[in-house]
Amino acid sequence: MKDLNAIRNDSIPPHESPAPTPEGPSLRTIYLGLDLDSPLVVGASPLCDNLGTVRCLEDYGASAIVMHSLFEEQITGEQLASIYVMESIAGAYAEARSYFPRADDYKLGPDQYLEQIQRIKRAVNMPCIASLNGTTTGGWMNYARYIEQAGADALELNIYHIPTDPNETGEQVESNLVEIVKQVRAAIKIPIAVKLGPFFSSIANLAGKLELAGANGLVLFNRFYQPDICIADQTAMPNLHLSEAGETLLLRLRWLAILSKRFNLSLACSGGVHSAEDVIKAVMCGANAVQLVSVLLKNGPAVLMRIKKEIVDTLKALEYRSIEQIQGSMSMINCPDPRTFERGNYMRILQSWRPDRAWTQDVTLKSLGSR
Ligand SMILES: Cc1cc2nc3c(=O)[nH]c(=O)nc-3n(C[C@H](O)[C@H](O)[C@H](O)COP(=O)(O)O)c2cc1C
Repeated sequence: MKDLNAIRNDSIPPHESPAPTPEGPSLRTIYLGLDLDSPLVVGASPLCDNLGTVRCLEDYGASAIVMHSLFEEQITGEQLASIYVMESIAGAYAEARSYFPRADDYKLGPDQYLEQIQRIKRAVNMPCIASLNGTTTGGWMNYARYIEQAGADALELNIYHIPTDPNETGEQVESNLVEIVKQVRAAIKIPIAVKLGPFFSSIANLAGKLELAGANGLVLFNRFYQPDICIADQTAMPNLHLSEAGETLLLRLRWLAILSKRFNLSLACSGGVHSAEDVIKAVMCGANAVQLVSVLLKNGPAVLMRIKKEIVDTLKALEYRSIEQIQGSMSMINCPDPRTFERGNYMRILQSWRPDRAWTQDVTLKSLGSR
């Protein structure tokens, strides 16, 4: 086995030095009670495994980093489901490959995970948010305390549960989630964010329960990695597809807007944030922070500098002094037309759709000719 310390303390990959902070609107934001230089947070991913990469991300403008998850199965010793497959990504995006640890390197065991928190805290000034990923209440949750002791500034809880048992009710799924948050809250003092999936009957109701259970923020949403099917072999294939620009953001924007300002919860947008425009939309809908992963894995850390500059330019052009001024401006509570997020708009959209003229003309001509 390769020496993990040596791997993670790799020298910093070569990069241009970032431009000085541009004069102009302030991008400062408060997320989970943490005072961040900007909403640009590196989302949970293996980007935390190499200290050179972590420093580089900070230099280019990341305001905080979320570590990839430490999984319940890693702690309890069960076989780890291969949810995240790193090698395929490193192969597909050669330009960003130099920033990646190899697949074997990033799977930090529980003890190495805690050591890595300490290393990151020593290496950079930005907050480090650890992530625990599990589905049951149990001894593995003790790691929340160890994570706090190791110096993490906050903890993200990812309850990645796929309810396949027909006897399990939606209520049970939610009460299990709430119970995990309550127990972790009782164990630690640092802020807790809960990373949710979008598949709940009433997300707003659940958000209220999570706030009562002690959560300080929500991350919307988990991105589920759906296995594909191989027709020839009739096998299910694990499939890690990085998000594309414009792909999954709209679902997030809607729920940010619905939840914003209704609870005492910070909100982070995770999934499909690829550009300055995406960041601004998410903040307008109520995000206190956005988490970027795919765009960084595809392009490398330098993309942060471009996104940050474009946010500043846009705010300047619109004559805002700070990003805070637009935070939540398009939330359902503040939006001039809250129906945008509700059923009324859905009906309008469906009823206003008209078929493409080219093929309707073709069908009309054909039906006239056949008479
Ligand atoms: C290679 C890879 C590893 C990831 N690892 C984790 C993880 O350990 N824990 C977690 O909560 N999310 C993990 N994610 C999900 C991301 O944090 C994020 O929610 C998702 O990629 C959507 O954001 P994006 O569109 O910016 O990629 C991972 C994603 C990728 C691509």
